[in-house]
Amino acid sequence: MKTMRIHDRLFELFITEEQINKRITELSIQIIKDYADKMPVFISVLNGSFIFTTEIVKRFPYNCEVDFIKVSSYVGISSSGNVSLIANSIKADLNNRYIIILEDIIDTGLTIKNLLNDLSKYSPKKISIATLLFKPEVFKFNDEIKIDYIGFNIKNEFVVGYGLDYNGLGRNYLDIYKLKEI
Ligand code: IMP
Repeated sequence: MKTMRIHDRLFELFITEEQINKRITELSIQIIKDYADKMPVFISVLNGSFIFTTEIVKRFPYNCEVDFIKVSSYVGISSSGNVSLIANSIKADLNNRYIIILEDIIDTGLTIKNLLNDLSKYSPKKISIATLLFKPEVFKFNDEIKIDYIGFNIKNEFVVGYGLDYNGLGRNYLDIYKLKEI
């Protein structure tokens, strides 16, 4: 199994770029079906979602807007539980619009919950959520929050690559790796 070292940890190959692209194409078909004529606003949650965002929006062949929001909650390999909105550069008029939030990964759900609170203040028509990875075992908001488009459900393990980092490194790898238990 292909492994890789980042800082003090060893990671092993988990989901290949080919598997990811195939799955993103499937998600895109669904998103196109739901939003072709709705001129959605894709809101990308930085930093981790930059590659996923590219792959989703380049497959959406209709009018849409793309905007970015920056949050941070992870320190090392676990959520700090403290989500901070670092920058909000949203320029689109979100009133009465269809928003699709693009997330790299949803873990406890705290980040997405805070984002939903913030974005609902703009009075959009609807907010949907698309995430490349989802950890159902640790998600805390099953009763409240529906995740509309999920790339892969994964166990409660720490992953890097495809935009995701471990203390700043690993975002550039196009395969996804998981922490190797030793
Ligand atoms: P949540 O608020 O607990 O849902 O965490 C969401 C954020 O934590 C994501 O947007 C990531 O930035 C980060 N995160 C969660 N799990 C992982 C992981 O396995 N690897 C890298 N970052 C992660």
